[in-house]
Amino acid sequence: MRSDFGTTSKGEKAALYTLKNSNGMEAAVSDYGAVLVKVLVPDREGKLRDVVLGYDDVSGYEAGTLYFGETVGRVANRIGGGSFELNGRTYGLTQNDGSNTLHGGRDYYGKRMWTAEEADDSHVTFMLRSTDGDQGFPGASDIRVTYTLTQENEVKIHYHAVPEADTLLNLTNHSYFNLSGHASGLALDQEVMINADAYTEADAQSIPTGNVIPVEGTPMDFRKAKTVGQEIESDYEALIFGQGYDHNWVLNGSGYRQAASMYSKKTGIEMKVYTDLPGMQFYTGNFIVEEAGKEGAVYKKRQAVCFESQYFPDAVHKERFAGPVVRAGEVYDTTTVYQFGRR
Ligand code: BGC
Repeated sequence: MRSDFGTTSKGEKAALYTLKNSNGMEAAVSDYGAVLVKVLVPDREGKLRDVVLGYDDVSGYEAGTLYFGETVGRVANRIGGGSFELNGRTYGLTQNDGSNTLHGGRDYYGKRMWTAEEADDSHVTFMLRSTDGDQGFPGASDIRVTYTLTQENEVKIHYHAVPEADTLLNLTNHSYFNLSGHASGLALDQEVMINADAYTEADAQSIPTGNVIPVEGTPMDFRKAKTVGQEIESDYEALIFGQGYDHNWVLNGSGYRQAASMYSKKTGIEMKVYTDLPGMQFYTGNFIVEEAGKEGAVYKKRQAVCFESQYFPDAVHKERFAGPVVRAGEVYDTTTVYQFGRR
């Protein structure tokens, strides 16, 4: 179902697409920013809970600076120093996080109108034409993001692009999850598991040093589920630098596999995250400061957490990190799934 989602300050009309399945789940996405606006999941009593943070209409998304539900790119997370070299040429990007580039730079994809190419009750495909030189990146490309709500209660996000020249591509979804409901307060009591034996060490500006640190014996160890809050205040350098969790975990295994899970004891809602990418940023909403959101909610620091599948941050500057260079004519094709259930 397509409905009106308001008008941007430039006069563009945004739409909201509501997807449904036969288990009572609903997801809503907008052509503005290809954002995931709502995810309604039945809790243990069968009551629908909206488990993602967001805004009521397009003007909230236009003004927002926290990336709620957005499709971010061309390169998610940070590129150190705001420039990179490819094929012997240096490309300068916009610096929107100190001297670094975060989530594509100032004019990132979450703040643009995408075109809905096709839509039905279970899926929508959004397309964005990114031109050569867009944000400073070479290689024009049509970028497609398809959201599907499956009968298996998955919100499936499929990314596809074939750049016309060598370039970088690393898209992610920046949804903030709170499985007790978006307006239910802090997410610190919810349990998280991350399928990773290591994380990438980063400096005080969150730029990876290139070192990969085993999680064993550290507060970064989420291999056995524990609450988000259990060790978040530990006197541990990474947590001090990030003001909480805001790091890239080196996911175990390769190919499409489970990356993480989350669970709310209060509602019984559980979520499993799957991806075919090598890394995942687990970010605990450390930089939310009193943000006015959907239905009059006011979101606070650590009210929700993000599971951002990705190539490792600053991989373009780290020989040992895979991606995110995609050659001319090569297919960039990746899938991340958030699957819901209850127990
Ligand atoms: C980054 C955080 C940043 C947040 C933006 C995350 O992906 O790692 O440092 O503050 O996005 O809300």
